[in-house]
Amino acid sequence: MTVDLASWYPSAVIADVMGIDEDRQARFRHLARVLVVPANDTLEDLFSWLQEEISSRRGSSRQDMFTRLINDTAIRGRALTDEELLRFAVLMVSAAVMTTADAITNVMRVLATNRSLRARVAADLSLVPALVAESIRFDTPVAATGRTLTHDTVLDGTAVSAGTRVLCAWASGARDGVADADSFVIERDRGDSTIAWGWGAHRCLGQRLGEMQLRVLLEEWLTRIPDFELAPGTRPTRTFGTLRGTRDLIVTWPN
Ligand code: HEM
Repeated sequence: MTVDLASWYPSAVIADVMGIDEDRQARFRHLARVLVVPANDTLEDLFSWLQEEISSRRGSSRQDMFTRLINDTAIRGRALTDEELLRFAVLMVSAAVMTTADAITNVMRVLATNRSLRARVAADLSLVPALVAESIRFDTPVAATGRTLTHDTVLDGTAVSAGTRVLCAWASGARDGVADADSFVIERDRGDSTIAWGWGAHRCLGQRLGEMQLRVLLEEWLTRIPDFELAPGTRPTRTFGTLRGTRDLIVTWPN
């Protein structure tokens, strides 16, 4: 049996957060796969499904986060338009699913290829939060995002003018000031490496949820499957770009 754990789990969690009805969740999880792996559905299918979800909740008295955003939220004195709501829904789903899926595959790759680390954490689950923090620092899933400066400013002694595009290199920042930063060491001083979750007003809205998903997944997995390794003949590949994850990670374990 194969289960595409990396995309299934975060999409199930964000479906709950957004209050998607249980009988619609299977279709939603299926559609959300287009964000992560090649699939028969398209991004347009996901967008129109989310648009249906918005329309069906207009005027509803439900109290979940997404329905309240649709009906009870005013920004600068007006309700959000359908287009703004759709953009928000797409941001929520993609920001939650793609990043967490990448983070899961990254930490599982490290465990599957490091027997002593795997054994140590499986024997002492109190190490899981440090394992998660080190994985996010070491394999920062959101490597970088861009900004356009709205006014002239000085960045670290360099004058930069309004309109300039700058790259916020979160992954590189998560290595700054960390000794032997290219080694994966769970018991270490990670300095300011939580910059891996962004900085300032747009810092990750879902950091705690992301950390919790990784912690729960690892605790549950290592309790049931303390020892596992890469399936023979398989070779995971790492992806590099704005987002960083691991593809084709297939693991096997003794019965
Ligand atoms: C391991 C998992 C995750 C990582 C590494 C991550 C990382 C990040 C980073 C670096 C940013 C800042 C982007 C920027 O400033 O340009 C960000 C923003 C954001 N994240 Fe996450 N994230 C994760 C999980 C989640 C989850 C589970 C949610 C959903 C609840 C989420 C929702 C968001 C949203 C809505 C933003 C945009 C915030 C804004 O622009 O004001 N993230 N995330």
